[in-house]
Amino acid sequence: MSINFQKNGLIAHIKNSSISYILEVIDDKYLINRYFGKTIREYRETNSFQYFKRGYNTQHLSSIENLSFDDFPFEYPTRGHGDYRIPAISITQATGIDFIDLTFKEWRILNEKPKISGLPSTFSEEGETETLEIICEDISAGIRVYMYYSIFDNLGIIVRHQKIENFGKQKITINSAKSLSLELPAKDYDFLSLYGTHAKEANVSRFALHRGIQKIESARGASSPQHQPFFALVSPDTCEESGEVYGFHLIYSGSFSAEVEKDQFGNVRAQMGLNPDNFKWSLESGEIFETPEVVINYSNNGLNGMSQNFHKLYKSHLIPKKFMNQERPILLNSWESMYYDVTLDKIEQQSNIAQELGIELFVLDDGWFRLTNSSKTSMGDWKCNEKKLPGGINKVAEIIHKKGLKFGLWFEPEMISKASNLYSEHPEWALQIPNYPMVEGRNQYVLDLSRKDVQEYIINIFHDYLKDGQIEYIKWDMNRPLTEVNSLALDFGRKSEIWHRYILGLYYVLETITSTYPNVLFEGCSSGGARFDPGMLYYTPQIWTSDNTDAFDRTIIQSGYSLLYPPIAMGAHVSITPNHQTGRITSMNTRYQVARLFNLGYELDLSKCQDYEMKEIAEQIAESKRNRKFIQYGDFFRHDVPNDNYSMWSTVNSDKTEAIVIIFQKFYNPIKSHCLFKLNYLNSDFDYCEKNTGKIYGGDELMSVGLSIPLIKSDFHVFAFHFEKIS
Ligand code: GLA
Repeated sequence: MSINFQKNGLIAHIKNSSISYILEVIDDKYLINRYFGKTIREYRETNSFQYFKRGYNTQHLSSIENLSFDDFPFEYPTRGHGDYRIPAISITQATGIDFIDLTFKEWRILNEKPKISGLPSTFSEEGETETLEIICEDISAGIRVYMYYSIFDNLGIIVRHQKIENFGKQKITINSAKSLSLELPAKDYDFLSLYGTHAKEANVSRFALHRGIQKIESARGASSPQHQPFFALVSPDTCEESGEVYGFHLIYSGSFSAEVEKDQFGNVRAQMGLNPDNFKWSLESGEIFETPEVVINYSNNGLNGMSQNFHKLYKSHLIPKKFMNQERPILLNSWESMYYDVTLDKIEQQSNIAQELGIELFVLDDGWFRLTNSSKTSMGDWKCNEKKLPGGINKVAEIIHKKGLKFGLWFEPEMISKASNLYSEHPEWALQIPNYPMVEGRNQYVLDLSRKDVQEYIINIFHDYLKDGQIEYIKWDMNRPLTEVNSLALDFGRKSEIWHRYILGLYYVLETITSTYPNVLFEGCSSGGARFDPGMLYYTPQIWTSDNTDAFDRTIIQSGYSLLYPPIAMGAHVSITPNHQTGRITSMNTRYQVARLFNLGYELDLSKCQDYEMKEIAEQIAESKRNRKFIQYGDFFRHDVPNDNYSMWSTVNSDKTEAIVIIFQKFYNPIKSHCLFKLNYLNSDFDYCEKNTGKIYGGDELMSVGLSIPLIKSDFHVFAFHFEKIS
């Protein structure tokens, strides 16, 4: 890993063994992008910029003849002086004029990765990253933009963010400040992203980029299941196992937008950041604003290459350090077995069976504080309903701990019910716009997390519950998008800052609680995956992937999220059949096989299981514990399959001596029989024993010839293989 300057300090080359990122200062003032992609030993300007006289164009005060801004690859473009493509930054000056003109001032190398104040971001130990700081400015407007690019050793990743400083005398307004703006050369790309809805998250969308602007966004105040804050530009022939990929992921949990413009010449500009529709920020003289961090990922090893980069980055440089190398407990969650109707008897009964089966953590989900068995009351009060649970949470914790299980509790801290003591005392604490009706979502309003008093209230609730150390796990839920996004406490001139201030408030609360109780395992959740993003992952090392626990749908949802997230981050539960969300019937084995390479848990009424099912579950849990370390810390791959009736995953350990392979047959379909499945991520020089059958195979044969599987007369059938190297 290195950052080198060349051409008298006019070119900066950021590189490691996988990637190069090259910037150039032209004419002493314009900062442009020269290259991002596979690593280059030494940059000698083979792609020197070809200037061309164009008609219907602008002329610039420049020593360069025929300089046209129409296709100039600006690194952080503004609008208004001849570049008509999407701008990275837009500012209204104190004069009321929407215009800035950034020119290059200086750059330097930092050995430490800078922190971003109030926002989650990747971190590194000394020597693991190098950072390029670039300063651009508009002296007339009194604006300075600091740009930070950090490269990690051995990862095809650069992370980037910007800091905007008002060094003028008067207030300015930031209308938009993207985290990413990247120029890519004219060629064909597919735009790949993840879209979805509640209980059907993370579906892959892929289409050929066309001329004009293509955009995805969330304007819901959360990153949302509708669009993950991610997109990739991939070569048309890129598949799981080969091809070029540029992937971008925003470390942020609120509204975002991602846009790609393919201009008239075919050049591509890719951007991502805070959604300008939900954002404006007043910057007083001397103040600084920082953008969220964006992850920029390059691989020429297909979508799996991109995923490996993201997984490694998040496992080693984003999730809380305490949980980086900690195996996650197998849990039983009460939601699908009890819903709101929680009782001590049921808890006693379920935890008894859970203990016998080898489960390690009992999670009491929603219901424990509600006055009734519905979502209509008590959100915000967080007082245990002792009519349902005599003795309160202390009693529940005692029962669970007596069984030798850990105890986890569900909260939805950002919400307030109209029918709550908190709302009677503090109606002004909810987001609201005077004179307009307040819209409920799941029978609840949203607390105004931009308020200091609300932040402290939530923090104190957690102090009350966590200080005695009787709770080892918290599920942090958030079950509705934001509406009437206004704070009664915010000054008139700052009203449009509330969307971002909400997220800053949330991060402050999470930071305070998780750093005070570093041993408590937090699981993020938002009606399943409605706020599954790297911002949340920074605080909550695992996230409930989807309310949909159906094994068939989960093959799609988990595949989608695995483009970005390591399986250890994704909660995957075995639930009852017919499935509560889809009504689909799948076997206990299928449900387990689909969950087992992820963060395994159970969510079903164990007292209703037949003896043979109990035996099966006990065996699953024992097997999972045996393999947990290798599964949770191994490398996860999706495989290209011969046809779309199958999905295939594998987890392989780092020295490729062990692999679990799962092949999922969607439907019984005789016309699609006799396919071969190549195990491309083994070592071709090794011989492997398949542990279930005892058969021995060469790695080369498994990789080049592939495995054949029988045609099974059943829908939703799983074939599972466990290979171990023989010496
Ligand atoms: C959300 C979560 C579920 C469960 C319920 C409880 O829907 O995604 O897992 O916790 O809330 O109300």
